[in-house]
Amino acid sequence: MTTINENYLKLKAGYLFPEIARRVNAFAQANPEAQIIKLGIGDVTEPLPDACRAAMVLAVEEMGDRSTFKGYGPEQGYAWLREKIAQHDFKARGCEVDAEEIFISDGSKCDTGNILDIFGKDNKIAVTDPVYPVYVDTNVMAGHTGPANDKGEYEGLVYLPVTAENNFTAELPGDRVDLIYLCFPNNPTGATATKEYLKNWVDYARANGSIILFDAAYEAFITDPSLPHSIYEIEGARNCAIEFRSFSKNAGFTGTRCALTVVPKTLTAKASDGSDVELWKLWNRRQSTKFNGVSYIVQRGAEAVYSEAGQTQVKELVSFYLENAKIIREKLTAAGLTVYGGVNAPYVWVKTPSGLSSWDFFDKLLQTCHVVGTPGSGFGAAGEGYFRISAFNSRENVDEAMKRITEKFKV
Ligand code: MLT
Repeated sequence: MTTINENYLKLKAGYLFPEIARRVNAFAQANPEAQIIKLGIGDVTEPLPDACRAAMVLAVEEMGDRSTFKGYGPEQGYAWLREKIAQHDFKARGCEVDAEEIFISDGSKCDTGNILDIFGKDNKIAVTDPVYPVYVDTNVMAGHTGPANDKGEYEGLVYLPVTAENNFTAELPGDRVDLIYLCFPNNPTGATATKEYLKNWVDYARANGSIILFDAAYEAFITDPSLPHSIYEIEGARNCAIEFRSFSKNAGFTGTRCALTVVPKTLTAKASDGSDVELWKLWNRRQSTKFNGVSYIVQRGAEAVYSEAGQTQVKELVSFYLENAKIIREKLTAAGLTVYGGVNAPYVWVKTPSGLSSWDFFDKLLQTCHVVGTPGSGFGAAGEGYFRISAFNSRENVDEAMKRITEKFKV
């Protein structure tokens, strides 16, 4: 008899965003006249930068000519893209990251899940609460947890609550943990981390032989020059951190797919015989076996992000979404709601009014304003009573959504 991976049966409900889509579709079918505005999933709406498009068009032409045609590319990504990333994203900020330590992939969502392939089964894993659900669900799928309790917390995971009281930045765990997921600027709360704060984590990780999985998918939204964009801006991080980055949110590649993961060659973890093993070698082996690289066309598009025109256009895109976030923050604050984030991040984290639960506020907003957001409790038990509003939409839709919400929810 063929059997299944029973760990999948432990997963609570559906993945958050498909569950939201299901509820929204049901509402839309019952109310076909409703003009629904979606500020739920953080999916970009504005077109690709011209520089990226032009580079991709050129690459398509190359693929149509025998002399410039490309078959399989390197599983790790083309050297010309890895070099540009190393130079612009890391060396220019004083981070020691070599092009060979950069692995091009089709998304940070995939990489933050796939990275578990190279780690042991018995690691103690810490996540913040609330958290990007992929970190939790992929650990459940890999069999690193027990079942979930009524609040949706999985046995075996260490949850580090992030609340208004700790400025949405988790405190160091009381007990030793092996793997720690950190995401800054944060999804879902929009919180940021200072250098001093990250240094505490790097010091903790080095003292405990732990590894930080640092998700920097939203680093382009940092406008405060004092904030670090990369964990490698912190001394010692090359010995304790893997960093994930993406072209999805800065250059609008959510549908085009391109991201990168940095695994420093100086990073090691233990084998059962006590020896230290280079994680770079394991990730390289994993990617070479299970992945055939991102398409040449898309990598040429990503490379164009680093051209002069690309840099200007990406900055414009990011500023556009940040202006949306500002409008959301200001309008909701003026209506008497308590809001966090949305300054160096594209997400605004809202305290639900009148003590409504996250899902009750979701339903109310959908039914009365025809606006979709994301219930905070979908990101973890400590997200209950909060709601995430994404700044990824057109200006017209953001203005209209804020008008509808402030009319209905003025407190
Ligand atoms: C989100 O809305 O949290 C993001 O779009 C998820 C993602 O980037 O995968």
